[in-house]
Amino acid sequence: MNGKIFLVGFGPGSEEHMSYRAKAAIAEADVVIGYSTYIKLVKDLLVDKEVVKKGMTEEIDRCIEAYDQAKLGKKVALISSGDIGVYGMAGPTYEVLLKAGWTPESDIKVEIVPGSTALSACASLVGAPLTHDFCSISLSDLLTPWPTIARRIDAVGKADFVIALYNPKSGRRTQQIVEAQAILLKHRKPETPVAIVKSAYRRRQAIQMVRLDEMADCDIGMLTTVLIGNSSTYIEQGLMITPRGYANKYESLTGEAKEGEQAGRSLSMGLEGWKFCLRQYLAANPGTTLEQAAEYFGVALGEVLSAVSLGDDAGEHKAIAVAQDKIVAALDSTKSWGRLRGIVRAEAGAVTELFLQGDDFNMKGDWLSLVNEAFHLHVNWSNVTDAYFSSRENTSYGIHFIDHLGRLVFRLLLTKQEGSFSVEALESFQQNWTKLGVQHD
Ligand SMILES: C[S@@+](CC[C@H](N)C(=O)[O-])C[C@H]1O[C@@H](n2cnc3c(N)ncnc32)[C@H](O)[C@@H]1O
Repeated sequence: MNGKIFLVGFGPGSEEHMSYRAKAAIAEADVVIGYSTYIKLVKDLLVDKEVVKKGMTEEIDRCIEAYDQAKLGKKVALISSGDIGVYGMAGPTYEVLLKAGWTPESDIKVEIVPGSTALSACASLVGAPLTHDFCSISLSDLLTPWPTIARRIDAVGKADFVIALYNPKSGRRTQQIVEAQAILLKHRKPETPVAIVKSAYRRRQAIQMVRLDEMADCDIGMLTTVLIGNSSTYIEQGLMITPRGYANKYESLTGEAKEGEQAGRSLSMGLEGWKFCLRQYLAANPGTTLEQAAEYFGVALGEVLSAVSLGDDAGEHKAIAVAQDKIVAALDSTKSWGRLRGIVRAEAGAVTELFLQGDDFNMKGDWLSLVNEAFHLHVNWSNVTDAYFSSRENTSYGIHFIDHLGRLVFRLLLTKQEGSFSVEALESFQQNWTKLGVQHD
């Protein structure tokens, strides 16, 4: 007889939330292997079964045991709470099997039985917090370096995901939740709703609805999942709700589409439309800089320049992309603009303005050196992937050099002499624009 390994996720803990297939797999198995707490949770299904209980730290032992038993021709159910593929035993089991030379074509078959993972089980108890983009992060640093975890918390905090924190705290790991809170408070309001769900669908189930700035002081343990809202999540009647976005398109939930929107079509701010919206925003708000528009739309400066370059309806702003093979020529072209203003922005906010002449440039390998008596500025030219000429009527004319993430590397602007731009410099700028820019029909 050929052996088989079922990798069974049995859901949050109660039998009625276990899938039909999970019960059938356990019923079919000769041997059931699991962490002792999991074995206890499904004990009623284990009558007449061979049961192998292992401790929490013996995860790899459980996988090896499952493989050894399957090699004897037995059907083995390796069980885990929630979904066995979510922070569960599915990964380690495949790793052990593959290391031992097993292949999917071998006599021992493997079936993964999915289950309801903690984040959906916990969400179901507090309302509808996951109705929009969400992600999960485990705060366990037992196998993952903390800087990796912190970087992920920071990224999803910034990107406005709803977040489910697994493994938020244990007897020994008490400060991770404090650090996570501090990182998230850099991006989210203190009053952001948080649901703390302990032992969902188990005997000791407990729920706390709190604010983000209260989260770390709450009762949180090994069997807790923490759900943190995004910027539009709210609490009403004790329910945590993340809107699906209908209000962006419809007058009311059952009403007509708003002006400019169509049912079944991308929003006017969708993939195709948002650049037009950005130009409209600039046109409707004279005096707005490209940086301010980038901040308002939550995009990089390069994306703003790209959006402006695609239409002539951005108010006082105009832009044109420099053809990829003409970026160096575009840099050289600034030599005919007379006295230049070089601008370099540091990420943390410092802005450096340098006055220079075209003669001050010098390219050495990957480095562009802007050197004169007053300063030395060295720019890693290999970081420059795009360039745009841009103008803001009577206010600024220049070129922006952009990196692959759309960030400004530096820009060079024409300077005014006695309150106005020189006619020659403007003419030269205009010629460069026409000669080196990518024209749209
Ligand atoms: C190693 S992970 C296992 C996750 C599991 N495979 C799943 O899909 O839910 C353990 C973490 O899952 C969460 N968890 C599991 N069962 C839970 C429950 N019944 N209630 C709340 N959180 C739970 C907790 O965050 C806990 O620290």
